Amino acid sequence: MDYIKKISGIFILAFFGILFAMVSKAELKIPDVEDPAVGLPSIKMPKKSLFNHSVIKLGEKLFFDPFLSINGAVSCATCHIPEQGFTENGKRLSSGVGGKIGQRNTPTLLNIAFAQSMFVDGRAATLEEQAWQPILAHDEMGNSSVSDVLQKLEKKKAYVELFTKAFGLGGLSETNLAISLSAFQRTLISGNSGYDKWYYEGQDDAMNEPAQRGYQLFAGQAQCWQCHSIAGPGVLFSDNQFHNTGVSYRSKKLGLPEDFGRYEATKFEYEKRAFKTPTLRNVAETSPYMHDGSLSTLKEVVQFYNEGESKDPLLSPIMGSLNLSNRDVEDLVEFLRSLSGDQKYTPPSRKEL
Ligand code: HEC
Ligand code: HEC
Repeated sequence: MDYIKKISGIFILAFFGILFAMVSKAELKIPDVEDPAVGLPSIKMPKKSLFNHSVIKLGEKLFFDPFLSINGAVSCATCHIPEQGFTENGKRLSSGVGGKIGQRNTPTLLNIAFAQSMFVDGRAATLEEQAWQPILAHDEMGNSSVSDVLQKLEKKKAYVELFTKAFGLGGLSETNLAISLSAFQRTLISGNSGYDKWYYEGQDDAMNEPAQRGYQLFAGQAQCWQCHSIAGPGVLFSDNQFHNTGVSYRSKKLGLPEDFGRYEATKFEYEKRAFKTPTLRNVAETSPYMHDGSLSTLKEVVQFYNEGESKDPLLSPIMGSLNLSNRDVEDLVEFLRSLSGDQKYTPPSRKEL
């Protein structure tokens, strides 16, 4: 009898557990600006007072709403997919309205709060400056002007109300739309990785032995640290600079379209084919790699660096062959895998937006 009671008790508990999981809402997590997570620096905020629940919630809705595109089919999340590290796995180049293929691979938005410039060529300085570009790009969301988009939103009572709640009367504006999209993206932080627990908290078993050997290579013989910086109490594995690593030169040889990278933004000859050093946090979740998605796996990336031979006359002087053994390559890959954070963002359901 007791036994049956126990079993049915477990079933009842399990039933309510599942029910709870089904109805529980995706809750918006607002990070602590001063101390967002182990391994990360503080978040620099243009206007702290606007980093509040109403502004962020509105930004989240805008981010997931295909209404923002010319044909109602493409949202920011179409390309920046939350479950795929806010990128698109398996897709070399992004595609927007009407299936138009873009020129670049979709980068992650995790930890974008810490980036010191936007886009692989750094052509926008801040998230706020960046926000309207995809909305207006013909191969992304395809709108013809800012005023078209604002007029469209003005006809939606729900949006007018949300903008008013977040910014006060007359809150629906070009600037405020950018502010709210940016505020939402600044909540997408991801630290507390295996590496962070091992390095900053001294947990020996947070990173396996191959990954620990990989770290020694990363910080030594393999020279990765020179651009993917690791010094300091909080790191993003990026120096926020632009370097020519020979990727674009290689791609051109393979018959892929040539991309001048940083040169597109500055027109400085010496910056041709230089690209922003991307963060390596969560990199295991964001394949394929590089500005054009031309390398599919982390192993291919490390092998690319190991060869290091490029005939590009503008190649960064830091680049060169590394003489890594097969085991070294595996160890470096294992290290890169330990850089995924433990905070998971749960996207809201359509009803919750
Ligand atoms: C059609 C696919 C697509 C859509 C839609 C899209 N993006 Fe992107 N996003 C990309 C690609 C590709 C890049 C890289 C482009 C470049 O560097 O020139 C990018 C870059 C970015 C960056 C810069 C990231 C970095 O590391 O520098 C941010 C921020 C961003 N997008 C946010 C957004 C927001 C917000 C929206 C919606 C308003 C959006 N994106 C819509 C594909 C897309
Ligand atoms: C000279 C500076 C430099 C050095 C040294 C360097 N990187 Fe990079 N890394 C970059 C740049 C710049 C990119 C982006 C290139 C592009 O998009 O074409 C990049 C891209 C990557 C990517 C792809 C990230 C993504 O999201 O697409 C990985 C992974 C990576 N590097 C790992 C490493 C490792 C491991 C090492 C050491 C073996 C290393 N890097 C050495 C500058 C450097």
